[in-house]
Amino acid sequence: MKKDFITIHELSRYEFNEILDLTTKMKKNPEKYRSVLKDKILAMIFQKPSLRTRMTFEVGMLQLGGEAIYLAPSDIQMGSRESVRDIGKNLERWVDGIMIRTFGHHIIIELAESTRIPVINALTDLLHPCQAMADLFTLLEKKGSLAGLKLAYVGDGNNVAHSLMLAAAKAGMKMAVATPPGYEPKKEIIDWAREDGQGTDFELTITHDPVEAVSEADAVYTDVWASMGQEAEKEIRKKIFSPYQVNRELFSKAKPGAYFMHCLPAHRGEEVTDEIIDSPNSIVYDQAENRLHVQKVIMMNLMGKK
Ligand code: CP
Ligand code: NVA
Repeated sequence: MKKDFITIHELSRYEFNEILDLTTKMKKNPEKYRSVLKDKILAMIFQKPSLRTRMTFEVGMLQLGGEAIYLAPSDIQMGSRESVRDIGKNLERWVDGIMIRTFGHHIIIELAESTRIPVINALTDLLHPCQAMADLFTLLEKKGSLAGLKLAYVGDGNNVAHSLMLAAAKAGMKMAVATPPGYEPKKEIIDWAREDGQGTDFELTITHDPVEAVSEADAVYTDVWASMGQEAEKEIRKKIFSPYQVNRELFSKAKPGAYFMHCLPAHRGEEVTDEIIDSPNSIVYDQAENRLHVQKVIMMNLMGKK
């Protein structure tokens, strides 16, 4: 049966740890992996903008000996010019894998079901699993181990928050999520995380109090208040989310030496101040770099020789 990479929930704990271990090895010794995807081609479907995801998937394919082809929203007009299913049935005739960034999570599920080649989730409205894998890999590099660390997420209970919860559960971390009322993570994902964290030290706190979340945290994470597709809500969200800004005062409640994390792009002066994102505690560009290393492993596992 072909494998996809759509949610961290679907990974076994073994597979999750294997991705992190292989990323350490590949990052240390990239030459060894220079032809693992020789002659393989990845189609990259983007229905939303991107810098990091586009760059890291394309550079990753080139570094592994393969190639990537970018399909812009206006090219394929998924769902209007052609159905999701027909796109899946065409692409499998030409390429070896599909990466997709889209809106509704049902779209990636439909695509994966319609095609015989692996499908990789490069962000949906619900999840951003490649981001969370890179984020935990970054923390692992900095701290040496993940189990027992406390990650605080402050802001919108969005796709990034969801994937971080699932990753923290697999890693046996403690996670606290602080959102304004009405913007909490989805119940379905909270349930998945609790299920995945069973048998580990995973603890999940969902609160409306940013100080409670950040207190004693090893890392403080935030993301934009209005995600791609929510631009119309931008102004109202700015008002609702302003008490959740990661600034000097809030950050001072974390452990001394805590890391600041953000998936980027950041809206400086909104969810985070320049002072914090540009501080020595900030590891946002390490996170961005590690998107490349983690995704190379994910692509090798799905598209390489078994
Ligand atoms: N973090 C992230 O996915 O960035 P892009 O939207 O630029 O791809
Ligand atoms: N939550 C953000 C993440 C961007 C990488 C969005 O979906 O726009």
